Amino acid sequence: MKVLITLIASFGLQAATALPQPHNSTFHNPILPGWHSDPSCIFVSEWNNTFFCTTSSFSAFPGCPVYASADLTHWDLASSALNRPAQLPQIQTATTSQTLGMFASTLRYHDGTFYLLTAWLYKPNNGTQFVLFTTKNPYDDSSWTDALHVENPKGRIDPDLFWDDDGSVVMAFSGAPIEAAYIDLTTGKAGEPFDMWNGTGFNNQEGPHLYKKDDYYYLLIAEGGTALEHSTTIARSRSLKGPWESSPHNPLVTARYTDRYFQTVGHSDLFSDANGNWWGVALATRGGPKLYNETIHPMDRETVLYPVSWPKGGWPVADPVEGTMRGPLPVTPSGEKRSPPTFMGEKDVVDFQPGTSIPKQWLFWRAPAKPESFTISPPSHPNTLRLTASKANITGDASFKALDGLTLITRIQTHTFFEFSVDVHPGFGKIAGDEVGVSVFVHQDHHIDLGILVEEDSADSSRNMVFRCRATDSSIALSQLPSPVVTPVPAAWSKSPIRLFINGINTTHYELSAASASKSHEREHLALLPASLVGGQLLFTGALLGAYATTNGGNHSMEGYVSRWRYTPEAQEIGYGDYVWNR
Ligand SMILES: *[C@@H]1O[C@H](CO)[C@@H](O)[C@H](O)[C@H]1NC(C)=O
Ligand SMILES: *[C@@H]1O[C@H](CO)[C@@H](O)[C@H](O)[C@H]1NC(C)=O
Ligand SMILES: *[C@@H]1O[C@H](CO)[C@@H](O)[C@H](O)[C@H]1NC(C)=O
Ligand SMILES: *[C@@H]1O[C@H](CO)[C@@H](O)[C@H](O)[C@H]1NC(C)=O
Ligand SMILES: *[C@@H]1O[C@H](CO)[C@@H](O)[C@H](O)[C@H]1NC(C)=O
Ligand SMILES: *[C@@H]1O[C@H](CO)[C@@H](O)[C@H](O)[C@H]1NC(C)=O
Ligand SMILES: *[C@@H]1O[C@H](CO)[C@@H](O)[C@H](O)[C@H]1NC(C)=O
Ligand SMILES: *[C@@H]1O[C@H](CO)[C@@H](O)[C@H](O)[C@H]1NC(C)=O
Repeated sequence: MKVLITLIASFGLQAATALPQPHNSTFHNPILPGWHSDPSCIFVSEWNNTFFCTTSSFSAFPGCPVYASADLTHWDLASSALNRPAQLPQIQTATTSQTLGMFASTLRYHDGTFYLLTAWLYKPNNGTQFVLFTTKNPYDDSSWTDALHVENPKGRIDPDLFWDDDGSVVMAFSGAPIEAAYIDLTTGKAGEPFDMWNGTGFNNQEGPHLYKKDDYYYLLIAEGGTALEHSTTIARSRSLKGPWESSPHNPLVTARYTDRYFQTVGHSDLFSDANGNWWGVALATRGGPKLYNETIHPMDRETVLYPVSWPKGGWPVADPVEGTMRGPLPVTPSGEKRSPPTFMGEKDVVDFQPGTSIPKQWLFWRAPAKPESFTISPPSHPNTLRLTASKANITGDASFKALDGLTLITRIQTHTFFEFSVDVHPGFGKIAGDEVGVSVFVHQDHHIDLGILVEEDSADSSRNMVFRCRATDSSIALSQLPSPVVTPVPAAWSKSPIRLFINGINTTHYELSAASASKSHEREHLALLPASLVGGQLLFTGALLGAYATTNGGNHSMEGYVSRWRYTPEAQEIGYGDYVWNR
């Protein structure tokens, strides 16, 4: 009875604010599965009550993705703010580093325009520029502007964007303490930086976001570094110049010193929905602290959602991040049609039919230097993707330059259990070293490959096709890497395409196998490789699954053809032994 009265009472209160309060419903984390770090999200009533989020893209291209959702649980890729090299030409040439590129961004909507302010890192020490992209249509890649350089007065990262009531624009950024400067969004000029808040005593104060609520400025930050001690904390002040008062409920969210399945929780953003309910997003890493310490977290940092209660004049309080949570999710009009799903959380069924284009959620490693290296259905080979081999393999060597390009095309691994397969058409290679294959790729120094390689027989100089499974992991000694597995491709398989499979069989291992596409159920198991090879806290990026073609240093031209690209989600592990199965 008491519950009923409370419900009626709260319903009555809400009746004044037009929309009925939704009942709590269950949702699962992560909401953006697979590598989606440093989320920044907004709710935009002017765009049909849609939520928009961006996440960090580092060297992946297209970069600065913008996802859209009506219900906070189904997300589509609306556009990528960085989608053509002309917006920031240096992205194609400036760095061969694996862990630079586009860092954490802030996404905001103000007065009809979407703003994405981010940090572009192009050399390890103090090569950091702040760049701003804007659009009036977040569903249209081409409408995003070229990069406007915004002054980075201290050479820091994680720029925020906040409009004060008087229209002035404030950019907070990382540092001890967090600092901020007034900026001019038309010229990119920044004023004299001023100190804000040191946080609650942990290192790496970063990821600041400012909000104004009930006559307080609130400053939300990340602290403790992006690993197991990560957290989100918040402070408030009557003035942007401080003094800042730390919340008595800090940290707002964290998983540090716990055994929770979702670890490294931190780097948040907060927003309220059409019903006035508050939500937080953060990055988190699945698997618990033990697997994290063993670098077994190939999907790396994913985006999670949690409900926040934030009473008038009071402090925000958040529910701890778990795989299954409850909260007042927005109720979307029933039967509402979603745009064609272009989110990587979906399966891929891609047959490269003539006239189609590369799915827009697929990623390259850096903006392709030679876009024609990826051609769908060339006239001689309809229903294939032609991969014009790069001279460099997907590791490259010391002579590798960004403009040399890598022939590698990928999607994000978004599930604990999945099957990824691609058909490789034999007959591509005439010269020893020619190789076409599939990869679990985190970056050039961390990947697991299953290639079909042309080898020369030393006895009679004949050319043979072999399967080669091998791992590249620059963080361990070569002698500790699993030995490559090299097996001949059965002679009987030369007539039809060869299907290469990568299976995520559990949290700790990938299985590599192959079959003749004409007898795809007769699979040859090739290798089982530990996921620890493609994990680690300083890699920043998470597993991508894709296809590549290389001459392994050969100067000749070589074309590989792949077809029938499939990614089939099987299940998510969202707690120790707790699975969500795909039907
Ligand atoms: C809102 O949704 C309606 C109906 O689906 C559509 O016609 C309209 O273009 C949308 N408006 C915006 C701003 O997204
Ligand atoms: C980075 O460069 C900026 C501007 O050139 C300078 O003010 C700042 O001191 C530099 N920071 C470091 C860590 O060298
Ligand atoms: C932050 O900490 C440093 C070092 O303890 C101190 O010098 C500085 O005054 C503090 N700044 C703020 C804004 O609290
Ligand atoms: C993980 O590593 C940290 C830092 O070395 C350590 O404090 C912690 O006890 C480890 N946790 C587990 C579960 O292994
Ligand atoms: C709904 O979920 C929120 C967030 O967990 C919680 O604060 C609130 O008490 C729940 N409401 C009901 C009616 O269960
Ligand atoms: C890639 O090429 C480099 C340089 O030729 C070589 O050292 C490395 O072993 C190759 N790696 C792979 C995975 O093919
Ligand atoms: C995953 O599967 C491999 C191969 O069967 C096995 O060695 C490993 O222990 C499994 N890991 C887990 C967490 O079950
Ligand atoms: C490719 O060309 C370069 C530069 O001319 C040469 O150094 C290298 O040996 C050649 N590589 C092969 C595999 O022929």
